[in-house]
Amino acid sequence: MKILILHGPNLNLLGTREPSVYGTTTLDTINEGLQTLGDTLAVEVETFQSNHEGALLDALHATDANVIVLNAGALTHYSYALRDAIAAIKKPVVEVHLSNIHARPEPWRHHSVIAEVCAGSISGFGALSYELGMRAALDLSSASS
Ligand code: DQA
Repeated sequence: MKILILHGPNLNLLGTREPSVYGTTTLDTINEGLQTLGDTLAVEVETFQSNHEGALLDALHATDANVIVLNAGALTHYSYALRDAIAAIKKPVVEVHLSNIHARPEPWRHHSVIAEVCAGSISGFGALSYELGMRAALDLSSASS
């Protein structure tokens, strides 16, 4: 069993980026926590971050993971290319967000164009959103195998 954790634009800046919104945990710390969870659950965990939409599409197309956890950052709200890539690969993708996108002051953050092709979404629990997303993705994957 293998899981891919994909992080989109600006998430490399976690720790210093708008800490009142996204917290102070760095991306490295989040990834380390997910690796530890993977060790506990005997699951291989691969992590990848890119600020480039095409690199994220390529990662989705090429992955040999069984399931994917995706924080698409701002691409969540407008990338039809990402939406179509998720639909194309026919693997369960769990959408995650650190912040509660529905409670954010900017109306454009309230809509996710990828939600309709994702298995489900988890939003608003800070770094814990990733762990919850990983557990949900693995549950889906074991249910379908
Ligand atoms: C985010 C929410 C997005 O609206 C924003 O553009 C991000 C991070 C989150 O994790 O809360 O980059 O996906």
